[in-house]
Amino acid sequence: MSTKTEIEVEAPVAAGSGSERPPDPCSLVIFGASGDLTHRKLIPALYSLEYRGLLPENFAVVGVARTESSTEAWREKMREAVTEFGRDPMDKDVWERLASGMHYVTTDFSSEGGESDVMKLLERLDKERGTKGNRVYYLAVPPTAIRTVVDKIGERPRAKGWVRLIVEKPFGRDCASAKAMNEDIVTHFAENEIFRIDHYLGKETVQNVLAFRFANGIFEPIWNRRYIDNVQITVAESIGIEDRASFYESAGAVRDVVQNHLLQLLAITAMEPPADFEADAVRNEKVKVVRAIAPPDPAYVVRGQYGPGEIDGKKVPGYREEPGVAAESSTETYVALKVFVDNWRWAGTPFYLRTGKHLSSRSTTIVALFRPAPHPPFLEIAGEGLRPNVLVIHIQPNEGISIRIGAKVPGQGMTIQPVHLNFEYDRVFHVQLPEAYEKLILDAMLGDATLFTRIDEVEAQWAFVDSIVAQWKNAKPDFPNYAAGSKGPKSADALMARDNRVWCL
Ligand SMILES: NC(=O)c1ccc[n+]([C@@H]2O[C@H](COP(=O)([O-])OP(=O)(O)OC[C@H]3O[C@@H](n4cnc5c(N)ncnc54)[C@H](OP(=O)(O)O)[C@@H]3O)[C@@H](O)[C@H]2O)c1
Repeated sequence: MSTKTEIEVEAPVAAGSGSERPPDPCSLVIFGASGDLTHRKLIPALYSLEYRGLLPENFAVVGVARTESSTEAWREKMREAVTEFGRDPMDKDVWERLASGMHYVTTDFSSEGGESDVMKLLERLDKERGTKGNRVYYLAVPPTAIRTVVDKIGERPRAKGWVRLIVEKPFGRDCASAKAMNEDIVTHFAENEIFRIDHYLGKETVQNVLAFRFANGIFEPIWNRRYIDNVQITVAESIGIEDRASFYESAGAVRDVVQNHLLQLLAITAMEPPADFEADAVRNEKVKVVRAIAPPDPAYVVRGQYGPGEIDGKKVPGYREEPGVAAESSTETYVALKVFVDNWRWAGTPFYLRTGKHLSSRSTTIVALFRPAPHPPFLEIAGEGLRPNVLVIHIQPNEGISIRIGAKVPGQGMTIQPVHLNFEYDRVFHVQLPEAYEKLILDAMLGDATLFTRIDEVEAQWAFVDSIVAQWKNAKPDFPNYAAGSKGPKSADALMARDNRVWCL
């Protein structure tokens, strides 16, 4: 009998993107073309799409920034970026196909007429490359620059095609600023033209949570307060703040990760099954979850900041010693909290969330701990091995799913030992997982907003985060309280201990 479980998948992005049709001809305008996101993620993602033949034949990329550069010099820099950060080998023909439609415009949108050269180039490309007036505007600029760019594009007469606006995270820094930013954007763009990115939703493994829950009949009946004791969601990073001090000082872990990635993971873990996989059906269910999260009890909110320590055998400075960080900074680089989703499915089931920088390892997981079996008949003899079932969804790295069950140890007695049933992406599918940005850029071109955040969800996320920030307003934290390279502050373990629990991983 064959035990083979391998599955060959030819083109994973195409297979999983819902892209039965290719995107319409279009121009993609990247604002912030001289920045980190463009060279590390966006251009490598476009290259990977071109590599798989997923971009439209009539396509152009217009990079826009204030930094002086020629198109030739920008193309060369982007080629180097693809070589360094891309997941596919550099193929001369593929690159030439993409690069021949890439242009760079040096301009400052805040100066009078700063947008003219971009608009003229787009009209030219419509004629030369047949992009048909369809535009994707990608705002890869700091939040402070968004309003100027949006107003300038929005005030221009529209070309005859469709328009889509991709806005990077963070969308605002609290509920009020998110609403204000949105009010400005919606004076020029309709909600279905706005694509608010949280790149976590573009990850294969995050989408697989939806497949796992809703494509399998066996999990949904037990996916609730009756069978699940608690859920633990972790976004742990081993990197520090790198060179993002000015952004991080005004954001901290709660705005940088809790508001978006952690709440997204919580929403897809806890949401009700949508009627279909249309954008609004999925987003309606997600927003209900975020709105049902009660502000956390202050006794169950822990914040931390890393001090000096060691990562991979190398000494690293504490947060307050990082360049650009205030010597007495009270910005948190770690957050752990317990929250409840107040609805029928989840009432009384704690969701423990945590995220931090410069932790001992990089790992994003969703763990569901099930209640113990109600009456195991062999309790006394089974001993230690009788542990509750645990389901772990590994979002990154080692993407996959594992379930811990109790199994009988071979032999005379009835000794039970925990064992793991594992599904690992790379062992089953034999393909590299596509980068989140590939999926999201393609979806935006296709006009599919399922994996983008609607404004009501953004507002609900910020309302929750604002409630935490308000708790911290007058309390001076005792920072630093964990060493870089450790598992985080001791108070995060104490939070669990108070509930007679421990962090599972
Ligand atoms: N990097 C990432 O991995 C990442 C991940 C998630 C989200 N994001 C978000 O993506 C956005 C860009 O991040 P980044 O890391 O690429 O930042 P970055 O390296 O600082 O680049 C910012 C880009 O925006 C342009 N810019 C800056 N100020 C501007 C202004 N006032 N008007 C017009 N353009 C301006 C800069 O170009 P010029 O100075 O040449 O104009 C540069 O190209 C941010 O909102 C960030 O939060 C980034």
